[in-house]
Amino acid sequence: MGVLSNLRAVIRFEPFERDPVARRLAHAASVADLRRLARRRLPRGVFDYLDGGSDDERTLTANSAAFAEVGFRPRVLREVDSVSLASTLLGGPVSYPLVLAPAGFVRLLHPDGELGAARAAERAGLPYTLSTLSTCSIEEVRAVSDGRLWFQVYAWRDRGLVKEMVSRAAEARYDALVLTVDTPVLGRRERDLRRGFALPPAIGLRTILDGALHPWWTLAFLRSEPIRFANVVGRDDVGDAASPVKISDYIHTQFDPALSWSDVEWLRAQWEGAIVIKGIQTVDDAKIAADLGVSAVALSNHGGRQLDGSPATLRLVAPVADAVAGRTEIICDGGVRRGSDIVKALAAGATACMGGRAYLYGLAAGGEQGVDRVLRWFRDDMVRTMTLIGVPDVAALDRSAIDPL
Ligand code: FNR
Repeated sequence: MGVLSNLRAVIRFEPFERDPVARRLAHAASVADLRRLARRRLPRGVFDYLDGGSDDERTLTANSAAFAEVGFRPRVLREVDSVSLASTLLGGPVSYPLVLAPAGFVRLLHPDGELGAARAAERAGLPYTLSTLSTCSIEEVRAVSDGRLWFQVYAWRDRGLVKEMVSRAAEARYDALVLTVDTPVLGRRERDLRRGFALPPAIGLRTILDGALHPWWTLAFLRSEPIRFANVVGRDDVGDAASPVKISDYIHTQFDPALSWSDVEWLRAQWEGAIVIKGIQTVDDAKIAADLGVSAVALSNHGGRQLDGSPATLRLVAPVADAVAGRTEIICDGGVRRGSDIVKALAAGATACMGGRAYLYGLAAGGEQGVDRVLRWFRDDMVRTMTLIGVPDVAALDRSAIDPL
């Protein structure tokens, strides 16, 4: 009797969660947990497209490792009873200094796709960057969001097409262009090569087996609109992925490898708003970009998907800030998995961070709700971290808050 009543006193059943997505996400506490959920949910080829990097994936690993290697110098007894994260980026407000990175083929990860990510970004008060190779169009994304939208540009060989996309972005009130400059050719992504990854996935025996092992993804994929490069739908001259295409083949035939600084000037003549150069990997190039007067440099190696052996982006922040701070804004892109990582980059001298896989794992694991969760964790992490290191405002973060790199 005593045992039973003792047991009754301590047992607490959690209320049953009716929403299956919330149920799935309930026990995820970190981006690493969401990555594991994404891995279980996605066919192997799709997960590897999301997760992988180039060659030996040294730069991919180094991006996150650099954050792990930097420690804090916490100051105590500083009366921090509230923390302010709000700041400005490219002249507009952000609720905290993060922008969602552009990614191609997002609807492959989850039918909520770019629309879900953009809605979650707006709810969080953050800008969302739409990729040139998106699976929802410039206009479709604007139709679901009143938030800040940026548009990422690749240099198509057909400059007329770039011009046309840029004016569509202006028409749809996007407030910045992000010119990606680290992809004159595609990095050698060996996981994709092994799996023969193509877009949309070519259906062969292996894909059918993979799909059968991941029935939820397969059902959702079959039910949703066919995957297309939504910004060029119907353009036979460039191809919209109506029939399967290898990304490397597409990039090699459509994009111009001979991009130069004069193309940056050309782009500026087409666009009145802010321009971000994404893929700066040296102090010297950051200086050239600042001399040209671009609004921001995004220090980036494409999340370790392009040149293996390029430096971890966090390591570039301090030297680049020493060279160009005050002349151009500095965005640190790659390896961000926690809000504390953002705090480290800001302390080193960045204006903001950009993050890709963190929110993409969330999307793959739980659609729009998964992205909401990541963006909320990042905000909460930042508040907690700054309270623990004794800094009340993001504007007050400086190198005294971290161990030197
Ligand atoms: C990307 N990235 C990318 N960048 C870009 O300029 N245009 C694009 O279309 C894509 N596509 C893309 C797809 C996927 C699945 C990933 C993971 C990444 C790179 C992206 O914008 C960003 O630079 C990295 O994701 C940053 O690294 P983390 O945050 O993923 O570590």
